[in-house]
Amino acid sequence: MNVLRSALYGMLPRSRRESRAEPGQAVLSTKTAAALLCAACSLPAGLELSEVPYYGLSPPVYPSPLGNGSTDARWASAYGRARDLVSRMTVEEKANVTRGWPGICVGNTGDVPRLGIPSLCFADGPAGLRGQEFVSAFPAGIHVAATFDRDLMLEYGRAIGREFRGRGVNVALGPVAGPLGRVARGGRNWEGLSNDPYLAGVGMGAITRGIQEAGVIATPKHWLLNEQEFRRRRTPLGEAISANVDDRTLHELYVFPFMDALREGAGAVMCSYQRANHSYACQNSKLLNGILKTELGFEGFVVSDWDAQMSGVASANAGLDLVMPNAGFWGAELVQAVRNGSVSEERLGDMAARILASWYYLHQENDYPPPAIYTNMQKHFPVDVQADHAKLIEEIGAAGTVLVKNINNTLPFKKPRFLCVYGYDATVKAGPWQNRDRYGGGYEDNFGWNTLNGTLITAGGSGGNSPPYVVSPFQALQERLSKDRGILRWDFYSENPTPYVNADACLVFINAYASESFDRTSLTDDFSDRLVLNVASWCANTIVVVHSAGIRTVDAWITHPNVTATLFAGLPGQESGHALAAVLYGDVNPSGRLPYTVARAEADYGALLNSSVSAARFPEANFTERLWIDYRAFDRDALAPRFEFGFGLSYTSFAYAGLAVSLLRRAPAAPAEFPDQSVPVVQGGHPALWEVVAVVRCTVTNTGAVEGAEVAQLYVGVPGAGEDSPVRQLRGFVKVGPLVPGQAREAVFELTRRDLSVWDVVAQQWRLRRGRYAVWVGASSRDLRLAGDFVIE
Ligand code: NOJ
Repeated sequence: MNVLRSALYGMLPRSRRESRAEPGQAVLSTKTAAALLCAACSLPAGLELSEVPYYGLSPPVYPSPLGNGSTDARWASAYGRARDLVSRMTVEEKANVTRGWPGICVGNTGDVPRLGIPSLCFADGPAGLRGQEFVSAFPAGIHVAATFDRDLMLEYGRAIGREFRGRGVNVALGPVAGPLGRVARGGRNWEGLSNDPYLAGVGMGAITRGIQEAGVIATPKHWLLNEQEFRRRRTPLGEAISANVDDRTLHELYVFPFMDALREGAGAVMCSYQRANHSYACQNSKLLNGILKTELGFEGFVVSDWDAQMSGVASANAGLDLVMPNAGFWGAELVQAVRNGSVSEERLGDMAARILASWYYLHQENDYPPPAIYTNMQKHFPVDVQADHAKLIEEIGAAGTVLVKNINNTLPFKKPRFLCVYGYDATVKAGPWQNRDRYGGGYEDNFGWNTLNGTLITAGGSGGNSPPYVVSPFQALQERLSKDRGILRWDFYSENPTPYVNADACLVFINAYASESFDRTSLTDDFSDRLVLNVASWCANTIVVVHSAGIRTVDAWITHPNVTATLFAGLPGQESGHALAAVLYGDVNPSGRLPYTVARAEADYGALLNSSVSAARFPEANFTERLWIDYRAFDRDALAPRFEFGFGLSYTSFAYAGLAVSLLRRAPAAPAEFPDQSVPVVQGGHPALWEVVAVVRCTVTNTGAVEGAEVAQLYVGVPGAGEDSPVRQLRGFVKVGPLVPGQAREAVFELTRRDLSVWDVVAQQWRLRRGRYAVWVGASSRDLRLAGDFVIE
């Protein structure tokens, strides 16, 4: 019980800890601690609750910290102006800017014309402006992650930012790191980047920076633990699911990627629908006042997910700053709550100041265009913001395409003259049958969900987008073949198409759809698997292309000798066909990597295959796997995946050599275990977390016959790895190249204090453990080419 008590120590507000206890000393009696424990959270056999501190608990953290701009001069100046404006606002005016109103945008704040404060326009989504004409449909987050390309991630954010700004949208509702992707069949995993927090974090930082460079406020979402769609909201059955997670896992997996977005200055954060450790996320003081606004120094505002506010006074005091899409429990009620003292005027002023500070931080008070958002029943001049983004979309589309099988030198094509094309996913509209759970569709027109069974370029719900056009794989193949005076035969409907024995190759296009509001029921589908097997039964050169909103298992056919090549083509956006053809024909040498593990059998994901399904009045999702999701679990269990995290083939080969590790010591002392507590926190956390502590280098050489780029990946095992920590975790990646045959280049990986730290639940700090750090560099999480280590004494 001593362990339990000391674990619970950290949940007390710092002031109480400091006044009542020596650092590290428990202050709760066993009885109090036990009373705080969650009776409803069932733990697996062998796991003591004392080992999972905070598990199921949301300690109260009050009062809500005041935003003050202490992060840097730019925030300080934004706060100076925001506070000045707020000082001139009435209670009613302050309550008006903290609520939504029905209007032309997905979300619209109240205005204060007297003081020149406009209504701010909020719009979805993470992969392009949704529901509009003359905007671009970008690849989904998971596709961008598959590029493992930091530059493309930044360019992606920039292009999206320019489009939102061009249409007068103040606040872009993305990027997404929640869900992270804990559950293999999660309905929204594709909106986010990867279930690896480091890869997701790099993307979150780059995309946030890009969006905000255009002057648009980015909104990393959904804070926090929105890992499943099933019962994400209150229903007649009962309350929303409670995601129960211990404090260390919370920080090292789920908070981690948000830190990168905050570090880049994100001006808003969206809180999520479900309960987190038994408290609704938009009124969870530990998550909002505690972790976000204190520990991570968040200067911006917290906006509720749409209708996610579950209380008035409680949400205000817990740190929610803006309710969407209407007044929720606020508006006139908030005015009353301030008048009767339930919510302080200071708190209301802070809500308004945070919103206005973000507005000033992005300089939106100067010449920001008014919203150009229309329904397609409105006659209007097109406000075309597409610029040349199609080129970038095609580039990311190709860079995020992952080649996972390629035997007999099937790819790249050598000027084929006769191709057969099969499957509903090859073209934009394949057939009359409708089953959007399994097939196709996945983009919207201006009104409602698109239910076409066609090629999948994005997936469903608010993360979907509105393509100006869709270049299907079939269209792109027609363009290529027509130039070569070749011929095509196609059948988009049949499960068992007619054989053409003279074809050079048969391309089979299948997909796996997913959407907001429901989780997937399978990672595969029988129709598609039978289609592949039927074609492979007579076509000796069968190439399978999978467009999927996340993991798609392939063991029904992947080892078939006639399946000669397979590509995971992701969710590539409007230029889908061009991007794919560029890879098939070898204009682009594939360098995409899987941002998740593809198992041999769905059952290999174990308890993390499905979301937690329950009809209980208070349903629970217990994150008892702690840090061991996806490849961390496969590595622990020595389970062979079909295709591991980080895997992807190239048309060339690469050699790795010369691993060198250097520890940057600030003479004379080795780095302290904890960041210096006298240094104030800034947005993104303690500044020392972002200091480079070690540098790893190696040389990558193109040893094959064609030009290509290699994604070199760095994995780290912290002291304690294999015991209380995963064997290895991704902590660096570099896309090296393109390199011509024979060319070598150095890959340099910088490891920050955060990258090497574990979250210490007692100290409530990131801790750099003393001991040996194992380091691997390789081509995937299982293809480790170089090994080394360093010691922090
Ligand atoms: C609900 C979704 O969860 C969120 O991601 C989206 O931004 C809002 N709806 C607004 O459409």
